[in-house]
Amino acid sequence: MKNIFASLTLLLSFSAFSQTAVLTDPWLLKEMGVAALNEDLSAKVAYAVLNPLQEMRLHQLAHARGRCGGYEVLSQKETFNQNRIAGIFSKIKSFQKRDLLLQKDIKLAGPGISENLAERREIREALKLVQKERIKDFVSWFSSFPNRNNKSRDSNLPMQALAKRLQDSVLVSHPNWTQDFIEHDSTGQKSLRVIIPGRSRPNEIVVLGGHADSISFRGNAPGADDNASGSADIVEVLNVISETGFTPERSIHLFFYAGEESGLLGSAEIAESYKNEGKNVVAVMQLDMTSFPGSGLFKFSNMTDFTTPTLRKLIEDLNTLYVGGEVIHSECGYGCSDHASWYRNGFPTVIPFESHMDEYNPNIHTPQDTITAEINFEHSAMFAKLALSYVMEVSASQWRAF
Ligand code: BES
Ligand code: ZN
Repeated sequence: MKNIFASLTLLLSFSAFSQTAVLTDPWLLKEMGVAALNEDLSAKVAYAVLNPLQEMRLHQLAHARGRCGGYEVLSQKETFNQNRIAGIFSKIKSFQKRDLLLQKDIKLAGPGISENLAERREIREALKLVQKERIKDFVSWFSSFPNRNNKSRDSNLPMQALAKRLQDSVLVSHPNWTQDFIEHDSTGQKSLRVIIPGRSRPNEIVVLGGHADSISFRGNAPGADDNASGSADIVEVLNVISETGFTPERSIHLFFYAGEESGLLGSAEIAESYKNEGKNVVAVMQLDMTSFPGSGLFKFSNMTDFTTPTLRKLIEDLNTLYVGGEVIHSECGYGCSDHASWYRNGFPTVIPFESHMDEYNPNIHTPQDTITAEINFEHSAMFAKLALSYVMEVSASQWRAF
């Protein structure tokens, strides 16, 4: 009897009910021998419907090929509708075309784009307040949950604990800062958002985010580097802004996304609803993995795909002016983190990353993603500084990407 139940469950889980519609790299699909239902080689994107086994295989293959971005899960509304898929392809292509032009000539971005950044004293002073010990404490705390997997029964426990930690530290002294949970259709885990309202232009929004969830194919999923580290840098940005008393002109929205590891679930819904509500998002920075200096201490990748050239340039200028890291470039492959959700909805994005793509932390997605000897919190603190200078510059100025 038990066996019949087991086979029934197995059969059900591999049936059409649990198929997932994904956007992915066309070459990875070919390598797996799965036919794309639609593909565009120039936009480097293919649409396919996968069973759970194929989904897992794609994830593993992507990592074995040294690229992240196995796939991006499509929402129910988009699924199985060829017209919508064609629409997504053409949108991605038009964004890529625009970005190629921007890369050739920044003036194409239009008048008012600041090519030369002037130093602000308040940013230089604020950066001095970044504390690597505080970042380490946070990573150690957040990675001590057995897992933060969106599919686990207690998936909201770490999210609630995080909200409480922020409430008791930074929020309590800033009555006009707010936080809320964002519920999702695609997962039971909730994303957490903190809003610092802008003084004079509150409808213009500067986004900084990272995923709070973690994953492992066996055992615990401490997710220290992936992505307690990026989450810790975002919390450190909050800590420092709180200490300086800085008041932004534009609003700052900070996100701790749910379900990234299961296909960018939380951010996909958030970016789509910001788009549908016509929100004026000026820039989006994603922090995902910041504490493993795989290409050398203080070297970081300014990822070149699904990101916006003018915003990438701003980050490099801020780095030169305030941070002093060494910039390298690499690409992720297909939509490897939450910035891809925003990019797909037309918003300017950037993702500074811990190392070259060939040299990232080999322990991610395993029970060994903990604070090992190679983890370096000065390296991670560099990302908190980059994020802080980005948030303070863009929220105080008229800067825009195009
Ligand atoms: N942090 C990783 C992405 C990553 C890994 C970037 C290695 C650069 C190097 C992220 O959390 C992740 O694992 N993403 C998934 C994709 C997602 C759409 C399921 C991945 O890479 O497979
Ligand atoms: Zn990650």
